[in-house]
Amino acid sequence: MSIINNIKNIRVPFFSTFKAYFDLGTTNTRIAVKKKGVVFREPTYLGYNAKTKEYMFFGTEAKTIQGKTPDFLTIVRPITNGILADFDAEVSFLRNSMDTAIRPYLEQFSLIKPPIHAVAATPSISTEIERKAVEESLQKSGCTQVTIVERALATAAGCGFNIFSHEPQMVIDLGGGLLEISVVSGGGIVGQRVLKTAGENMNKLIANYTYLKHGIVLGENTCENIKIELLNFTDEELNVTVRGKSLETGLPKSIKLKTSDVREALISQFHHVIDATRELIEASQPEVADAIFKNGIALTGKIAGIPGIEQYFHQELKIDTYVVEHYADATIYGMMRLDQDNETIYKIAAPTY
Ligand SMILES: Nc1ncnc2c1ncn2[C@@H]1O[C@H](COP(=O)(O)OP(=O)(O)OP(=O)(O)O)[C@@H](O)[C@H]1O
Ligand SMILES: [Mg+2]
Repeated sequence: MSIINNIKNIRVPFFSTFKAYFDLGTTNTRIAVKKKGVVFREPTYLGYNAKTKEYMFFGTEAKTIQGKTPDFLTIVRPITNGILADFDAEVSFLRNSMDTAIRPYLEQFSLIKPPIHAVAATPSISTEIERKAVEESLQKSGCTQVTIVERALATAAGCGFNIFSHEPQMVIDLGGGLLEISVVSGGGIVGQRVLKTAGENMNKLIANYTYLKHGIVLGENTCENIKIELLNFTDEELNVTVRGKSLETGLPKSIKLKTSDVREALISQFHHVIDATRELIEASQPEVADAIFKNGIALTGKIAGIPGIEQYFHQELKIDTYVVEHYADATIYGMMRLDQDNETIYKIAAPTY
């Protein structure tokens, strides 16, 4: 039996590879398999048990227990602002994710397992060393070959643009840890502004707001839910009752929050995005600025799910703005799309040393 198992685990380098795509986002990790589509979407969270010295909780489970763990359990976030910050945690997370997401597909190869070729996107602000760390984390998780690509270009391809044409397109990726405003043309980035205050920072702003205005301490997951449930840029005024800890008594306390409260708490953050976008357009070549006005602005990232966000951008910038169809998965869709198109994905490879 063990001989059969050993044979099953043999990897032959010249055998056709098994292609998988990785979007290692700050908040969410997405994995796709060539010709199958996205097979994994989970929060990039782990629970570390200091007693047993092992990672015990992964993804949604780890995120759900955040704020409710005993002392010996720590919630770990391996990706910070789009950059791999905790190598060992990321390897553990990737191994676990690949077990769930990729193994079922590998099982179909009964005798010889094909080597896994991973394509992963990293933000352009990452250094060669940081990209190398992503490459090594994937290799350590069982991938034989790793190609690192420019994230903003993959995202633009996921919006449906021909990123190799010399027609500049502006894409704003509103993620959890990074807010990337990019102008893409001719297979490269012609201008970019990156803000490290993104979706997760909004949760912190809500926590600060309720603390100062209502004297209540709210957990991170509660603040995220408030943002998702209440925030919109339409005329709709919603409200929810949330429970936290009173600053005065230390006892549970409930407050009612409205959409306008959340807008007030987050408006400074949205002003930053608008200012950075305006600045980028102003710094662009006249032809590029003209193309942006003509082609409009594409919004991606899960924050683009805020109702009416395109109207808000349009109102502030006086440029047509729209949310792309697969806004939450644009990066990973882009990688798949470029690999299907005669493997043009290699044209957007980012160097590692
Ligand atoms: N329906 C929603 N409306 C608004 N925001 C949402 C919604 N669902 C999730 N979010 C927020 O979107 C953010 C996560 O976005 P996304 O998954 O695009 O980030 P990411 O790809 O993991 O991060 P990054 O690309 O910045 O590294 C979180 O801050 C989350 O609270
Ligand atoms: Mg992202």
